[in-house]
Amino acid sequence: MPFDAATADPSAGAKLFKTRCAQCHTLEKGGANKVGPNLHGLFGRKSGTVSGFQYTAANQQKGVTWSEETLFDYLENPKKYIPGTKMAFAGFKKEKDRNDTIAYLKSATA
Ligand code: HEC
Repeated sequence: MPFDAATADPSAGAKLFKTRCAQCHTLEKGGANKVGPNLHGLFGRKSGTVSGFQYTAANQQKGVTWSEETLFDYLENPKKYIPGTKMAFAGFKKEKDRNDTIAYLKSATA
């Protein structure tokens, strides 16, 4: 199943973000780049384009536009989606975890 807003639980996504992503990413406008880039304005943005963040060539050259659908595939297995990425996150195997996290990101990065 692809991303499904109707069944997503953004508050569960907020908890997942806090425990699995927040050590490396900020979400607010003007937030710092940490180990990973700031994610403000993520939806509709091309991969590898946050200024001041040193991406791998793999991430930049992926040239994907981040959306519900592309994030749903990416977050299942980042290293498979972008071979050579330095993002050290194994992935969410459960569709529900991806759904919830993406629903949270939609509001928290806008
Ligand atoms: C251990 C640190 C770390 C964790 C944990 C982590 N990330 Fe990342 N993330 C990175 C790094 C580093 C990059 C840049 C990868 C590259 O340049 O190859 C990245 C890149 C990304 C990108 C692409 C950004 C762009 O501008 O192209 C997204 C989206 C993303 N991460 C989301 C997440 C989400 C959601 C989680 C939690 C489920 C997460 N990350 C967990 C370090 C991390």
